[in-house]
Formats: sequence, C-alpha cells, structure tokens
Amino acid sequence: MTYPKFISISEAMAKGKGHVAVRGWVYRERGSNKMKFLVIRDSSDIIQCVISREKFEKQWNDIDKLQVEASVEIEGIIKEDKRAPTGYEISADKINIIGLSDSFPINKDVNEELLGDRRHLWLRSRKMNAILKIRSTVIGALHEYFRSKNFWEFQSPILIPGGAEDGPTMFEVDYFGKKMYLCQTWQLYAEAAMYSLEKIYCVAPSFRAEQSKTSRHLTEYWHTEMEMAWANLDEIMDHAEEMIKHVFKVVLEKHKKELEILERDYKKLEPALKKKFPRVTYDEVLKFLKEKKNMSVPWGKDLRTVEEEKYMEGHDTPVFVTHYPKEIMAFYKPKDPKNPKTALCFDMLGPEGMGELIGGSERDTNVEELKKSLKAKGEKLEDYKYYFDIHSYGAVPHGGFGLGTERLIRWICGLEGVKDAIGFPRTMTRMQP
Ligand code: 4AD
Ligand code: MG
Repeated sequence: MTYPKFISISEAMAKGKGHVAVRGWVYRERGSNKMKFLVIRDSSDIIQCVISREKFEKQWNDIDKLQVEASVEIEGIIKEDKRAPTGYEISADKINIIGLSDSFPINKDVNEELLGDRRHLWLRSRKMNAILKIRSTVIGALHEYFRSKNFWEFQSPILIPGGAEDGPTMFEVDYFGKKMYLCQTWQLYAEAAMYSLEKIYCVAPSFRAEQSKTSRHLTEYWHTEMEMAWANLDEIMDHAEEMIKHVFKVVLEKHKKELEILERDYKKLEPALKKKFPRVTYDEVLKFLKEKKNMSVPWGKDLRTVEEEKYMEGHDTPVFVTHYPKEIMAFYKPKDPKNPKTALCFDMLGPEGMGELIGGSERDTNVEELKKSLKAKGEKLEDYKYYFDIHSYGAVPHGGFGLGTERLIRWICGLEGVKDAIGFPRTMTRMQP
C-alpha cells in the first residue's frame, strides 16, 4: 500500500515552502476568469490556493463552477504571503475535484434558529471546529486528572427504575409496558460501587426534564462525577479545584489558537489557574449580599441566579459556597453536626456569569435520616431499597461531586450559552437534528 502524499494544512504551513499536497473543502472562493482564489479548509486550518487559468485551461469550466464546501485535492508550491488569510498561499499545479457541493445553506445572514436547524452543516464552521477540539481536550483532561489520582472509571445504568435528584425532572421511558426513567446522576449507583473501588469517577450523559430555557440548561448534558470513600467536604473541594486547574492548564497549553478563533480573551482564565478558589458559607453570602449589594435573601431560600451573579461580580476565580440549608438540599446531603440546620455540601460558582458549575457534598449514611428526608420530599421509599442496603454493611464517610461539563466548556470558550458547547444540543425546544 502506498501512503497518501497528503499532509494537513497546518503541517503544510509548518513546512512553509516547496511542494505540498493537501485536501479538504472549499471554504471561500472568489476570482475572475483568469485567476481563482480558493480558500481550502481541513480539520487543522484554512489556506488560500491560487489557480491560474493558464495552467488549467482544460479543467477551467469545472473549477469555475466549484462552490463552497466542494471537496478537492490540491498540489502545488506553498509560500509565505502576508496578504493571505493565514499567512501562506499555495500556487496550484494540480487539482482533483472529489465531491461537488450544492449551494451551501449557511452564510453570514443566517440567524441562530436556522443555524440550529442546520447544525449538521454548521459543525464545519471554524467556530464549531474550535469548540469541538477544546471539548475533546477538556474531556480527555478530566479523564487524565482522575486516573492520575488513582480513581477507577465506573459506569452506572442510564435507564433507572426511579429515584435520584428530583422526581418531577425525570424523563419517563416506556420499558416493556413498565415505567423507567433516564438517569439524572450516576451518584446513587456510584455510592454502591464506592464500597468496592473506593475512588471512582465517570463522564457520561445525564438527563433533566427541567422546564428551563436558560443559557445553562440542556436536557441531555455530560456529567463529570466523582465519588470517594473516607473523604470529607474539604477533600472533595480540593479535588474539584485541582481538577479545574488541570483542565485549564492543558487547554491553555494546547488551544491558544482555537481560543483566538473564538475571540476568547484567555487572560480571563489565568486567575483560576494561579489563585486559590475562595470558600465561603451560605450564611456569609447572605450577609455580603445584604451589606454590600442591598439584596436580602431570607435564610432558607436557595440562591437565585441574580443573587449568585451579584455575589460573583468581584471574583475572577470560581468560589465554593458551602453549608446551604439542609431542608432545600437533596436528601443524601447530611446535616452538619455543628449546625444541623445546614448540610455538608457545596456549589462551585463560576465567574463571568457562569453560575453553578459543580454541586457536591458528603453523603448521609444514616438510613433513618435518609428515610426521613425522602418522606419529606414525597418520595417512594421502595425506590431506594438498594441505597439503604449499601449503607447497612460497614458504612464509611464518603462524598463526591458532579460537574456540568458543558458549563465548564462554555466558560473556557466564552460562549453565550451551553448549547454551543456540545455537537448536537438537546434543550426543551431543540430536538433536531
Ligand atoms: O447539582 P446537581 O443536580 O448534582 C448532582 O446531580 C449530584 N448527584 C452530583 C454528585 O454529587 N455526584 O448537578 C451537578 C452539576 C451542576 O452543578 C451543573 O453544573 C450540572 O450538573 N447541571 C446541568 N448542566 C447542564 N444542563 C442541566 N440541565 C444541568 N443540571 C445540572
Ligand atoms: Mg446543584
């Protein structure tokens, strides 16, 4: 077998001179009946190619008809050219037209809604290409982080019989005439596996039937979760912070070019890499909001988006807010023995209006307490039988957290919302393609 002589556009530019062969899709085209300028894209970059009619008299008719997104192979001489979009230009000696393109239905005038409908084509844009590369790196870095800390990867079922974060926000599935649900979290099964593997993590889809049309809600999102035996709240937060720092380090090392394509001011990410994330209690946040922002939140109410944003205004790193009121927290978050009205839990809030990025806590192993909290929330105890059972055989302190992976990618890339942080988003109103 002969290996292809083709190299990627970025490799061709790194070579910078001499003969090269590249292949890709027409990104832009313009010219006259003497000369054509085709900007070609591949997964790595774009490059301008000049085609003079003199050399291509026989093929000219076909070349002249090439439309945006037609696929081609081009060979020629590359050289630096300051006027070209990426600083290099190929003077073509040979063109092979591979696939013709219809008139491409995406241009400058296409609005957000249509871009959503044409997502399968919009993925080819430089913007989506840059985001998807960063997404791939972020997910790789998350795996790297946990594996480097000796966590085992553990998978839980996606189809579950019931019970999780919050009943009304579960998607129901018809399972041979019985009701099942799509999981909202890996956690409850993970706690069972934790008794075997001690330190575990997973990056997998979670589903939320929330009626929220906001910049941070998807109905299907990738949830990065960890669970750890013997850990207390501070150790869990240490991992959350170190994990974010590791992801930032890898992204900043590898993706300056993509961040520039996205026009993301990546200086804004540097404080989170360098500074320690503050840790404050819910009570301290309420006090600050009252004294400094003239906002009064009655004790016992969850923080709303506006309040989180007001609080975060002065911060350029994430902040851990701990010890929320026990009553408004998920049933598995234990009372703080020092202040039983609060729970041993945290949310990590992001700067730049990102809101909650991570939620985590220690876990209650007191089965009577668990039953009491579940009853108060109107849950059916029989759905949780296995969960009570796991804590009846040598319960140990443990805890973990869940990160909204798209929320982190949104922040890194500086995106309007989480929809662009994933290839094919699912929201209340977006089901296709
Ligand atoms: O705060 P949540 O609901 O916590 C849990 O599910 C825990 N069981 C996690 C754990 O301790 N293992 O969700 C965790 C994170 C949130 O902080 C948020 O970033 C993200 O998941 N998230 C969403 N992301 C996108 N779209 C949604 N609809 C989301 N709902 C939660
Ligand atoms: Mg939460």
